Amino acid sequence: MSYLDTTHDVYKEAALSPDVGLCCTTNPIWELPGLKIPKIMQEMNYGCGSTVHARDLTNTPKILYVGVGGGMELLQFAYFSRQKDGVIGVDVVDEMLEASAKNFVEAEAQNPWFNKEFVSLKKGDALNLPVEDNSIDVAAQNCLFNIFKVEDLKKAISEMYRVLKPHGKLVMSDPTCEQPMNDALREDERLRALCLSGSIPIAEYVKMLTDAGFGTIEIRARKPYRVLDPVQYNTDELIYIESIEVAAIKDPMPADGPCVFTGKAAIYYGEADYFDDKAGHVLLKNQPLAICDKTANALKNLNRNDIYFSDSTFHYDGGGCC
Ligand SMILES: C[S@@+](CC[C@H](N)C(=O)[O-])C[C@H]1O[C@@H](n2cnc3c(N)ncnc32)[C@H](O)[C@@H]1O
Repeated sequence: MSYLDTTHDVYKEAALSPDVGLCCTTNPIWELPGLKIPKIMQEMNYGCGSTVHARDLTNTPKILYVGVGGGMELLQFAYFSRQKDGVIGVDVVDEMLEASAKNFVEAEAQNPWFNKEFVSLKKGDALNLPVEDNSIDVAAQNCLFNIFKVEDLKKAISEMYRVLKPHGKLVMSDPTCEQPMNDALREDERLRALCLSGSIPIAEYVKMLTDAGFGTIEIRARKPYRVLDPVQYNTDELIYIESIEVAAIKDPMPADGPCVFTGKAAIYYGEADYFDDKAGHVLLKNQPLAICDKTANALKNLNRNDIYFSDSTFHYDGGGCC
């Protein structure tokens, strides 16, 4: 039996009997005008952040959601797309597909605008998606990819890259951990399946995305998630796990490397009205310009004493350079 079989078993159980504390983080269950999230979907919220961002969802995008859980985020996506088969949901666990299909019937009863045909559920594996190349505008996964070991994670990311249209967005939420985890934790299949011991540092996570070809990365949120303590877990030191929300955009890879936005800004405070680096960045006097990490490094290397650089907030919300 492999760790993927254990994962299927864990989510079969979680489909048959909702497990309220399974994943989740400090996110509120957000509701929008006219959107009601059925209680059963809230109980089956096995995500660790949000992948639904209104600014990704203009112009009725075609959406793919991998690892459906109770279906809450698919309902939130359908709120924006409102078209037959506008959201494709893929899951490898039959019981999860059946449970979410039942939840969409409940959602239809509670939401006059919602038709369960807005969501098309498909049995399939994140490692071999049953979806055509270049057909998706927004692909999402929440708290699934952290479970995968490196080779499978590479495959899962490359599958998302394959199905996205050019400039399409892969929007994700996953636990990350900056501390080393020992092999006993890493190899514990149940802990891994429960999204507790598979997480990797943010820089490694981002590198997996840029190595797959995504030219732009946005770190949109970073939040407390869990601790693994030496009393209850096989570790000598307390391990702190965070969850992040990330978008990877299928933009062409710039010749000088990817643009990774971690929430940095530059503010020019010199004597002129603006500073132009002649590389595409114009900093208006005393106006913050959101910059990617690559541009931050390039501007810092100019060694000027009239530009202020703010640190990464890990809460990038659009706009800025590149
Ligand atoms: C941690 S839950 C997250 C569920 C949902 N994204 C949410 O936020 O509530 C992981 C989900 O991925 C599904 N899953 C597990 N392995 C998978 C695979 N290899 N391919 C597709 N789905 C998978 C599980 O059945 C479950 O629905």
